[in-house]
Amino acid sequence: MTARLIDGNALAQRIRGEVAARAAALRGQGTPPGLAVVLVGDDPASAIYVKHKVKDCEAAGLHSVLEKHDAGISEQALLARVSALNADPAIHGILVQMPLPKHIDPHRVIGAIAPHKDVDGFHVANAGALMTGQPGFKACTPYGCMKLIETTGIDLRGRHAVVVGRSNIVGKPMALLLLQAHATVTICHSMTADLAVHTRQADVVVVAVGRRNTLRADMVKPGAVVIDVGMNRNEYGKLCGDVDFDAVREVAGWITPVPGGVGPMTRAMLLVNTLDAAEAACR
Ligand code: GUN
Repeated sequence: MTARLIDGNALAQRIRGEVAARAAALRGQGTPPGLAVVLVGDDPASAIYVKHKVKDCEAAGLHSVLEKHDAGISEQALLARVSALNADPAIHGILVQMPLPKHIDPHRVIGAIAPHKDVDGFHVANAGALMTGQPGFKACTPYGCMKLIETTGIDLRGRHAVVVGRSNIVGKPMALLLLQAHATVTICHSMTADLAVHTRQADVVVVAVGRRNTLRADMVKPGAVVIDVGMNRNEYGKLCGDVDFDAVREVAGWITPVPGGVGPMTRAMLLVNTLDAAEAACR
């Protein structure tokens, strides 16, 4: 059996179209939705991610502001910038690109973002809302993964979902979203004794560890849904995920490619969260 591909590019394009229509309606009411993206330092990967986010805003008719700060900016000065953006009525969403330089406490910076502008869903108020089943912003990558899983038509109720990775950005919120959809959820991580024992039982596997070939064909239940959050380079410099794609696609029922799977959905869900924030501000 060869798995069906879950096309993240196509789904993201559809979502961007919906966002553009909502943005046009808000512009018509005199409130262009606005996103501020804050980049600290000169990490090349972060610079590329941030450029894409700003470009996505422009294409969908959102107002965007890119603030670049020197790696040496003090924590206090960065917190002051976040406060200014919190108070700016033209800005509905604020994203501070991670990672931050070592001398800056990311928890303090995320904690300074007004929760109603925290379109990353990283603030403890939004993380706690997800934990307790209340409305709030969902972290963009796991939110996008849920949309990708939805396209398979599989009812998650009672299914066994295994999340590999326990980061605050992906693994933990992913597990909570799957739980909210009534899946039975297992979280595996670097200290898990035998990863394959868990993944072999999974109807859905989400892999988010940042190491290629973490999930191999002999670790997958035939017909399973496999979502690959990884973004790595192979020995030839080619982009690849955490899943041994060519081998796993022969066992899985559904699989996301890298590139063209989760990546475009993370970007699309940031636009969705920003529109939600702007519409809420207009109410
Ligand atoms: N760094 C890697 N992924 C993300 C993300 O989704 N949001 C932010 N702010 N930083 C990141």
